[in-house]
Amino acid sequence: MDSQRSALITGASSGFGLLTTITLAKRGWRVLATMRDLARREKLEAAARAAGVLDRIEFHALDVTDAGQIAAMAELVAGRTGPLDAVVNNAGFAMAGFADDITDAELRWQFDTNFFGTVAVTRAFLPQLRRQGTGHIVVLSSISGRMGFPGVSSYSASKFALEGWAETLRVEMKPLGIQVALVEPGAFATDIWTRNANISAGTMDPASPNAARIAKWRIRIESTKPKANPQVVADGIAAILDNPRPRLRYVFGPDAKMGVLLRSLLPWGILERFLIKASGLGK
Ligand SMILES: NC(=O)c1ccc[n+]([C@@H]2O[C@H](COP(=O)([O-])OP(=O)(O)OC[C@H]3O[C@@H](n4cnc5c(N)ncnc54)[C@H](OP(=O)(O)O)[C@@H]3O)[C@@H](O)[C@H]2O)c1
Repeated sequence: MDSQRSALITGASSGFGLLTTITLAKRGWRVLATMRDLARREKLEAAARAAGVLDRIEFHALDVTDAGQIAAMAELVAGRTGPLDAVVNNAGFAMAGFADDITDAELRWQFDTNFFGTVAVTRAFLPQLRRQGTGHIVVLSSISGRMGFPGVSSYSASKFALEGWAETLRVEMKPLGIQVALVEPGAFATDIWTRNANISAGTMDPASPNAARIAKWRIRIESTKPKANPQVVADGIAAILDNPRPRLRYVFGPDAKMGVLLRSLLPWGILERFLIKASGLGK
């Protein structure tokens, strides 16, 4: 086996996952690009061909909620002679909707992918990383994992859960030579709020007790569509993987940096008044 580093990425069919795959391949990595639906590989394939790195990318089916696929993937990697240098837990989606409209099933769906999916994938590769005594685990959290925003309580809860889990995992794994880092982007232009947008059925229902507030909230959200270039995050992830001692948290995007700053400086009472006003939820 050669000295080429290798990384496994979940949700590589679009957004940060796709761009991180290309970015790492351009830097010489071998990438196991995994996606829940291999029929959606064309965009990544075309980008890899255009960048001249198609031969450095393997395409594998992996739904992070499918225990059988996760086990098969871990077995495949364990059967190889070289190390796995990085696991990038990127797959995820956002369930939007007001907390009192969201059903248990919607909340569980959100957690099944964002939290339990990330945990299951990471745990499947931990034996491999422990045997090696080296490796990076990157967890895609969000600014929504540091503070709650109206309309995304389920998403925020799943990312807060990841933050706590990864913070502990980091301390447990560090003595074994395994690095854990959290990536906390603000709003970037990926498919998360377009093709992959999920709004709870209750919130879409005109009979929702929140109907009037939702109408205002949606106007605000739609007028502030994210425009930030997601390549920033892909480059950031590549830099984390190059760092033998990465920090615990990396915040990306001016909005996220501002959010973290305001949260650390302002009393919560002031911050929440600002959030209510900015989201159009005030009376
Ligand atoms: N963009 C932002 O503003 C932003 C901000 C903060 C954090 N994030 C986080 O960044 C990560 C990537 O999102 P993105 O912004 O790049 O959005 P995206 O373009 O919608 O990409 C999400 C990826 O996750 C995949 N995915 C969803 N459910 C999956 C499952 N069960 N198993 C495997 N793959 C699954 C999607 O697959 P399909 O192609 O099949 O749909 C897609 O490849 C997410 O964890 C998200 O929470 C994004």
